[in-house]
Amino acid sequence: MASSLTCIKKLSESLNISSNIPSTYVHFKDPVETTALDPQDSIPKIDISLLTSDDTDQRSKAIHDLDKACQEWGFFMAVNHGIPEELLQKMIEISEEFFNLGEEEKPEFDPKNVMEPIRYGTSFNTAQEKVHCWRDFLKLFVHPHFHSPQKPEAFRDVLAEYCARARELVRKLVRGVSQSLGLDEGEMEEALNLASGFQLFSANLYPPCPQPELALGMTPHSDHGLFTLLIQNGVGGLQIQHDAVWVSVNAIPGSILVNVADHLEIFSNGKYKSVLHRAVVNNGKTRISIAIANSPSLDTVVSPCPKLVQTESGRGLAYVPMKYKEYLLTQQSNRLDGKARLEEVKALDD
Ligand code: OGA
Ligand code: NI
Repeated sequence: MASSLTCIKKLSESLNISSNIPSTYVHFKDPVETTALDPQDSIPKIDISLLTSDDTDQRSKAIHDLDKACQEWGFFMAVNHGIPEELLQKMIEISEEFFNLGEEEKPEFDPKNVMEPIRYGTSFNTAQEKVHCWRDFLKLFVHPHFHSPQKPEAFRDVLAEYCARARELVRKLVRGVSQSLGLDEGEMEEALNLASGFQLFSANLYPPCPQPELALGMTPHSDHGLFTLLIQNGVGGLQIQHDAVWVSVNAIPGSILVNVADHLEIFSNGKYKSVLHRAVVNNGKTRISIAIANSPSLDTVVSPCPKLVQTESGRGLAYVPMKYKEYLLTQQSNRLDGKARLEEVKALDD
């Protein structure tokens, strides 16, 4: 691992259930962070098959539901998404195999270069953080150019298939929100050059932590890109912020968790807000999640869609245009810090 810190998998294996974790992993002084569990049941579910239904009523209802979920939650569970559950399983299993390889078999990279297409590391950005995340990761650029580690051998094929299917799903979502924003179906994908859109794959490993109430797998943040898709190995840990409380997400098996990310907030001129989320850890089971960020092409200058900016009355241009690549670079080169990156491109006060 190209980092001065050892991977969290090794650290976790060296501890036992009554160990104290190193102070560099302690996020909370008092383990009193409470979580509201009630809103869990109301987390929206979107039936993806209806977004492309031949029945126009069903289609408009699905688009309406998508609009509501993006406005009220910035988050939903995608069901009937058409990606075989077996493929989701395989992607998770092969990622677990990757993390179980010996360190010498894992790819090396220059930790200072966040634009390296294959990065294996720990926490988020250890050079920038005071307190680290209880997480190891593998990050891969998978579109428009496809990169995969050499090992495990079957990794490349499973990855290629899953990422292609994920892009199809995102295309349906983008065509749906293009309409819910009052645009033509294909307008958004064209404006953001999604045919050569950037896709970043992350596999996250969260091993057991003896003091889970003091640590975090990932500190609160929003994602770059339009939509992030997330799947996991049946072990929960994702929390989203909704109405100022942290809500634990208990995923329906086989569903894909989807969150609105910063560039959809920007493009929609603030109609849809990216959701703040974090990952908590537990003291029993290893958790694996796979997140795919789906974005405009690297050289697209992302600005609020001109049709959604009213200059004479109401809301003007709420975000300053910025090249997607620049945004990505700054986000990845800093520590995870809430929605700080997005705040920097805001042109208006809320
Ligand atoms: C991410 C992320 C959360 C999780 O990878 O951006 O927020 O539950 N992951 O693993
Ligand atoms: Ni995230």
